[in-house]
Amino acid sequence: MNICVIGTGYVGLVTGTCFAELGNKVVCVDIDKSKINSLKKGKVTIYEPGLKELVKRNLRQKRLLFTTSIKAGMKNAQIIFIAVGTPPKPSGEADLTYVENVCCQIANNMTSYKLIVEKSTVPIETGEWVEQIIKQNLKRKVSFDVASNPEFLSEGSAIDDFMHPDRIVIGVETKKAKGLLAELYRPLRAPIIVTNIKSAEIIKHASNSFLATKISFINAISNICEKTGADVIEVARGMGMDKRIGKAFLNAGAGFGGFCFPKDLLAFVHICEKLGYDFGLLREVDRINTEQKAVIIGKIKQNLQDLDKKVVGVLGLSFKPNTDDIRYAPAIDIIRILQSEGAKIKAYDPKAMKRAKKELKGIQFCKSPYAAAEKSDCLILITEWNEFKELDFTRIKKLLNKPFIMDCRNIYDPKKMKRLGFKYIGIGRNK
Ligand code: UDX
Repeated sequence: MNICVIGTGYVGLVTGTCFAELGNKVVCVDIDKSKINSLKKGKVTIYEPGLKELVKRNLRQKRLLFTTSIKAGMKNAQIIFIAVGTPPKPSGEADLTYVENVCCQIANNMTSYKLIVEKSTVPIETGEWVEQIIKQNLKRKVSFDVASNPEFLSEGSAIDDFMHPDRIVIGVETKKAKGLLAELYRPLRAPIIVTNIKSAEIIKHASNSFLATKISFINAISNICEKTGADVIEVARGMGMDKRIGKAFLNAGAGFGGFCFPKDLLAFVHICEKLGYDFGLLREVDRINTEQKAVIIGKIKQNLQDLDKKVVGVLGLSFKPNTDDIRYAPAIDIIRILQSEGAKIKAYDPKAMKRAKKELKGIQFCKSPYAAAEKSDCLILITEWNEFKELDFTRIKKLLNKPFIMDCRNIYDPKKMKRLGFKYIGIGRNK
């Protein structure tokens, strides 16, 4: 099939590239000229495991093209995916300006039937709104359909998630739209859930909000564990073995970050408010997530007494491992609070330092975890990259001013750390 994907962020680029890998002819469009020029040469500006290789291969085989022109991109496409950003407004509401601009351009350039698919996370009823905008801006009488096909890709494993999804959600209003999307996804042999557009939009919001709720729930439980002498890892294991609960997303830690959960959660609260429903549960999920950073700072302070002029080594800056994405990363918030209290930061991350350098000032970026530990008064692990799991702790102990480790992701064994002579603090652990 001929496909056009508008927006080459994490979602758009992975989606477009994977559709090309499945044998479709895909044109990816973005207004950012320098990004498109890089992509044309096979240079991928984001770090996502396996993506660069896939982009190069599909470019070589001419199944993947890049352009800045929506007109050129959509010319031969039967299906157009909208995967542009929907950043939050100060109120938390999603800003749909980019979606609106794209819809106007699609309408202006439509000369034959197109299926226009919302891929970005958008408020409920955006489907209707997209249809209205396109209708109002059409230059000639052509038929079109709108559909919602939310993405559930996780950064760091996005290609695998695309190729092996748990389910594919297709929100459609016509048989033609359903047929086109079902045909496009057929090679994946995954369960396809066909709904109307509004249900598909809510499935996306409800899924992300539910997962965020699980994380805040276990973080709240971790605080109770600390107060009682229980261990949150054991508690999560005991809960997760119940099939009705499931073990995923029960890792207590520094809280959720990234460009989806924090913003989508508040956007959903906002949508519900507009619909006359106060989703207080989700506001609490957000509050617990914010508070989790204060809990971590409190633990560091308790152990270092005062933060002023203390040197803090930080391991991990991205919001999760296997990505260079630092948007809404807990590490960024934690570092800013530490700095505001006078601490000096030495940080290391395998992939995210380039992006972090643009965001954070007054930090010493280090070449290795050991360099971050050197002459630091404590070492905080904030993102659980694999390379942090097996460090030489005898060396780290010698490098640190004080043998104090704050493990915000519970990746180390408390007993082993104590045996090695560290003051070790995890999240919700008492061993
Ligand atoms: C998420 C959704 O999983 C995906 O379906 C959606 O399309 C986009 O948003 P992503 O943001 O890439 O994906 O990452 P995810 O793996 O879901 O993690 C989100 C955050 O939650 C990370 O900061 C992670 O560290 C945190 N998290 C996750 C926990 O703190 N504990 C857990 O048990 C799981």
